[in-house]
Amino acid sequence: MNPWQPHRASIVNIHRELDLPSASVFTVELKLDPGPFADSYNFAPGQFNMLHVPGSGEIAISHCGPPPKDCSNALEQGSFLHTIRAVGRVTRALEKLQIGDSLGVRGPYGSPWPMNQLENQDVLLVSGGLGMAPLRPVIYSILSNRSRYGHVSLLYGSRTPESILYANELEAWATSGIGIETTVDRVGNELRWSGPIGPATLLLDRRSSKSAYPNFRPERTQVLICGPEVMMHFCALSALKLGIRASSIWISMERNMQCGVGYCGHCQWGPFFLCKDGPVLRYDLAEPYLNIKDL
Ligand SMILES: Cc1cc2nc3c(=O)[nH]c(=O)nc-3n(C[C@H](O)[C@H](O)[C@H](O)COP(=O)(O)OP(=O)(O)OC[C@H]3O[C@@H](n4cnc5c(N)ncnc54)[C@H](O)[C@@H]3O)c2cc1C
Ligand code: FES
Repeated sequence: MNPWQPHRASIVNIHRELDLPSASVFTVELKLDPGPFADSYNFAPGQFNMLHVPGSGEIAISHCGPPPKDCSNALEQGSFLHTIRAVGRVTRALEKLQIGDSLGVRGPYGSPWPMNQLENQDVLLVSGGLGMAPLRPVIYSILSNRSRYGHVSLLYGSRTPESILYANELEAWATSGIGIETTVDRVGNELRWSGPIGPATLLLDRRSSKSAYPNFRPERTQVLICGPEVMMHFCALSALKLGIRASSIWISMERNMQCGVGYCGHCQWGPFFLCKDGPVLRYDLAEPYLNIKDL
């Protein structure tokens, strides 16, 4: 397949996730036009698509679903989900599209989360804000084969209680065997939050208490972190302090991308082209470059 050629997909569903003063967040269900591309379309958790809105531009957006084919809420072959925060030219153009409108899709691209290496391990998924989106397929995948994994917990840091993404799914995940811990940076005037207040690192740091977390086994724990870079950096440091190996920590580097297929050099970051060597990188390999800003 020509990697530059977008394939047409239609919007078959739009779900408004959050309506925040800063930006709205919505999930689109896309269905590829029938043909060989749709028939063979498959993605791995952590990968992204380039979405092309004619007249506005093309941007990288992570896969956030659907659940695997054996789940009750799985979608048809060639259909998938993207959660988008409307922040600029292309994302706001995407926000204006309606059910039935079409756009271009290239992908899936990039390195996935290391699903094979999570098997028989305990797993900590650490998410900040919209970082929940690329981690949701990991949760779906774990849930569809729950017995293959040890203790699995989602540690989710949100700005406010109102900005918790996929809030309606968290309870179902908890009853299906995923530990859910959430923290918020701040609460508004209506104090209806009884959970912790502080950064996501707080949820990691408290695992140093053996009495509170007797089952925590750093030597057999894999950590997947997705969120703002500064959050990933400090969460990785917290994980290291807990005794988790640097090679068992994974981050997703979502820097600016153009071609998405390793040709333009736009996403070069140290020795990595983040569109093909990333976005998911092992922390011990990425750490030396974490202080490099966008080129
Ligand atoms: C691998 C990868 C996966 C991504 N997955 C998602 C996803 O699942 N959902 C999603 O909404 N976005 C995702 N992004 C980010 C998305 O590509 C950008 O938000 C997008 O490029 C912004 O394009 P724009 O034209 O709307 O904004 P622009 O017009 O380019 O930017 C407008 C303003 O938004 C700011 N901005 C740009 N990017 C971001 C950002 N990531 N967060 C906050 N502000 C930003 C800019 O600093 C600028 O001030 C991903 C990026 C990468 C590289
Ligand atoms: S975006 Fe072009 S090389 Fe990565």
